[in-house]
Amino acid sequence: MTGPVLRPSVRDDLVTLEGYHSPQVQVDVRLNTNEAPSAPPPEFSQAVADAVSALEWHRYPDRSAIALRTAIGALYDLGPEQVFAANGSNEVLQTVLLTFAGAGRTTLSFEPTYALHSHLATITGARPKRRTRRGDFTLDPGAAADAVRADRPAVTFLCSPNNPTGIVEPRATVETVLEAVAETGGLLVVDEAYGEFAPWSATTLLGEDVPLVVTKTYSKTWAMAGARLGYLLGPAWLVAKLNLVVLPYHLDAMKQAAGLAALSFVDAMTARVAGIVEERGRIEAGLRRLGVEVWPSGANFVLFRPGGSGDLVWQELVERSILVRNTARWEHLDGCLRVTVGTPAENGRFLDALDDILESPRHE
Ligand SMILES: Cc1ncc(COP(=O)(O)O)c(C=O)c1O
Repeated sequence: MTGPVLRPSVRDDLVTLEGYHSPQVQVDVRLNTNEAPSAPPPEFSQAVADAVSALEWHRYPDRSAIALRTAIGALYDLGPEQVFAANGSNEVLQTVLLTFAGAGRTTLSFEPTYALHSHLATITGARPKRRTRRGDFTLDPGAAADAVRADRPAVTFLCSPNNPTGIVEPRATVETVLEAVAETGGLLVVDEAYGEFAPWSATTLLGEDVPLVVTKTYSKTWAMAGARLGYLLGPAWLVAKLNLVVLPYHLDAMKQAAGLAALSFVDAMTARVAGIVEERGRIEAGLRRLGVEVWPSGANFVLFRPGGSGDLVWQELVERSILVRNTARWEHLDGCLRVTVGTPAENGRFLDALDDILESPRHE
């Protein structure tokens, strides 16, 4: 090539974009990304291997993923036409935004919450608006509904249980926000990536004429973060629109087989979730015993503020080969850390290490 090479320029609206980062550090105990602490049962792996060995590799996968969507729908007494599946709930969210938000439209979220909601809004061309929750991280339902009426967003996000706080939105809050969303012709997305760890689900509010979708994932409940599979439950007419926008054959045949196989192991999943909820209680109680500020969690993680420098506590945990999510410098989360519920042994190690760290003279 002769002469200087002109690099193509990134879209003007993405020039200042910061990526989404979840730093990994080599440690014994990884409690930073809200994965399940144990894998699905060996029978699941065998079922997937059998299904995969029978695949017709030269053929495209079932574009409509009908078997998978039928089986997912059956979990909620819904038909396949009310289920949209994609590569992780992040791709589900992205497809919702591509279909209902995009250029010239706005989205609304209530901070602190899952960063990808506004990040995905930006990269799909919409303008994300961010309102703030109360100081205790709960949402004032009246204020949230007023914000919807004022901002008239195309898509409003709630996250229940909320990441990174763990707080479950009360049903009345979701209903109040939904009413405002319906009045203004918007769409409410309730992100329930952690919904199975919580006492109630917004799936009970779904209806063909209700502008509500609920997104879920195989990554947490089903202990299948490696599979990248998520789904949405919503009105059939809306699911049909999403299917027009998503890439053809976006769900590969192996993933469809794995997602379907998992649903034969509901009992193992339910037992795993119950174990995690029990361990979550143990972590919350242990943190309170250490005199640490803790937020009540309905998820598979707990947000806490150890006092003093959150960065220092995080570093000292890493020195003990324990990795939690360092949220200490995130907006609104000054000094906080987030710990994923691990195995009983991992949780014990985390609590002992924290006890040790907080006892040391550096933290007095
Ligand atoms: C609230 C929330 N929504 C969605 C996701 C994305 O999940 P997936 O692995 O299905 O893309 C996460 C992942 O941590 C999350 O915390």
